[in-house]
Amino acid sequence: MHYLAVISTFLLAVSHTAVAATIFRVVVGGPDGAVTFNPSSVNATIGDTVRFVFQQKNHTVTQSSLETPCSPLPDGLDSGFIPVAATQTDNFPSADLPIKDLNPKWFYCRQANHCQLGMVFAVNPGSNLAQFQAAAKSSGAATTTGALTTTTAPSTTAPSSDATNTASIPIIPTNGVNHKIIVGGLNIIAFSPSNISAAVGDTITFEFHQKNHTVTASSFDTPCRALSSTSTTGQLGFDSGFNFVDASVTSNFPTFTIAVNDTNPIWAYCRQVNHCGQGMVFAVNAVESGSKNFSAFQALAKQQNGTTIPPTSNAPAAHATSYVPALLAFFTLVLLV
Ligand SMILES: *[C@@H]1O[C@H](CO)[C@@H](O)[C@H](O)[C@H]1NC(C)=O
Ligand SMILES: *[C@@H]1O[C@H](CO)[C@@H](O)[C@H](O)[C@H]1NC(C)=O
Ligand SMILES: *[C@@H]1O[C@H](CO)[C@@H](O)[C@H](O)[C@H]1NC(C)=O
Ligand SMILES: *[C@@H]1O[C@H](CO)[C@@H](O)[C@H](O)[C@H]1NC(C)=O
Ligand SMILES: *[C@@H]1O[C@H](CO)[C@@H](O)[C@H](O)[C@H]1NC(C)=O
Ligand SMILES: *[C@@H]1O[C@H](CO)[C@@H](O)[C@H](O)[C@H]1NC(C)=O
Ligand SMILES: *[C@@H]1O[C@H](CO)[C@@H](O)[C@H](O)[C@H]1NC(C)=O
Repeated sequence: MHYLAVISTFLLAVSHTAVAATIFRVVVGGPDGAVTFNPSSVNATIGDTVRFVFQQKNHTVTQSSLETPCSPLPDGLDSGFIPVAATQTDNFPSADLPIKDLNPKWFYCRQANHCQLGMVFAVNPGSNLAQFQAAAKSSGAATTTGALTTTTAPSTTAPSSDATNTASIPIIPTNGVNHKIIVGGLNIIAFSPSNISAAVGDTITFEFHQKNHTVTASSFDTPCRALSSTSTTGQLGFDSGFNFVDASVTSNFPTFTIAVNDTNPIWAYCRQVNHCGQGMVFAVNAVESGSKNFSAFQALAKQQNGTTIPPTSNAPAAHATSYVPALLAFFTLVLLV
């Protein structure tokens, strides 16, 4: 495919998402023992994201229903408990909820009696928000803890104080498994483990260790090329971007999380120079008994020795002159949004 067509497709995709998508920032908890979601509801459209920012103390975001606000929805979403120390004032952990349909969605915090204290949240509640809030407050089984005396809403602090890695805490289905993959490490150029099985609804969290890696979606046939540069439809696969981790770092490694949406194999690689060609590839649900098995994928990566060019700057050098206007157009677009 001609590179200009690829770039136009990419520009269209960028302009589309840039215009349509809103990130709603919802503060969970906060200073002074706040037992609230702030704001308590949002009206979102498809493509938007609700970003839960967990502040002080120890809350969850758990999906429920209009009828039973304080009970988990079977197969619903759940962040798990996210404790944040009273002394922490920035770099708060966050979790993203992508909005894929317009149906109402109901949430609560399943800590102690927080739900009964009114700690509930809704996406697209229509006219039912007050009913949902009232049902939460009147639902039984409230356990009283003396510590929770204040329900003051926190001020929504500046987004710049949030953790930069918003995918650090996946909202996972309560029946899903989170698989942890270590990326790199001292003198290690590999994903560990490099080859897993996962079910639909599971999540995979890549934890970046030393030194400077990515995890980038590719395809079986071209293991060392980003999906966006191989697909004729301009399909964008996931890409963590480069995560540099100094040799001295021993904790709080950066992470990147993907959701397993279907049973198809997922192929990925590190796009740092030479890493893919050295076999730094990763697969989910490769069929070991077939020809597209993990060993064959890794062998192909080594054989092709990888192209490690980032997905958005894939133009051949020979076309450099006509590539410049396209790049300028891209940067103009970025400035406009
Ligand atoms: C957070 O709350 C849960 C549930 O009450 C509890 O099991 C967990 O120990 C708490 N974590 C911290 C760090 O307080
Ligand atoms: C969301 O829309 C409803 C009407 O459907 C409206 O009553 C409510 O005020 C809106 N909420 C927000 C947060 O904009
Ligand atoms: C990580 O690697 C990328 C690609 O090689 C490079 O552009 C970037 O500067 C590196 N980051 C650091 C902090 O070394
Ligand atoms: C799953 O779907 C989401 C939303 O459409 C997408 O961002 C993500 O990349 C998909 N996961 C994989 C492994 O392709
Ligand atoms: C893996 O695939 C290769 C070729 O793609 C094949 O030669 C090999 O037998 C396969 N391995 C298994 C265990 O089936
Ligand atoms: C990939 O995973 C399968 C299933 O766990 C295992 O049988 C196979 O040996 C692995 N292949 C490699 C090359 O690690
Ligand atoms: C693979 O890449 C390495 C590092 O750039 C290079 O030394 C080597 O010659 C390459 N191998 C082939 C077959 O191109």
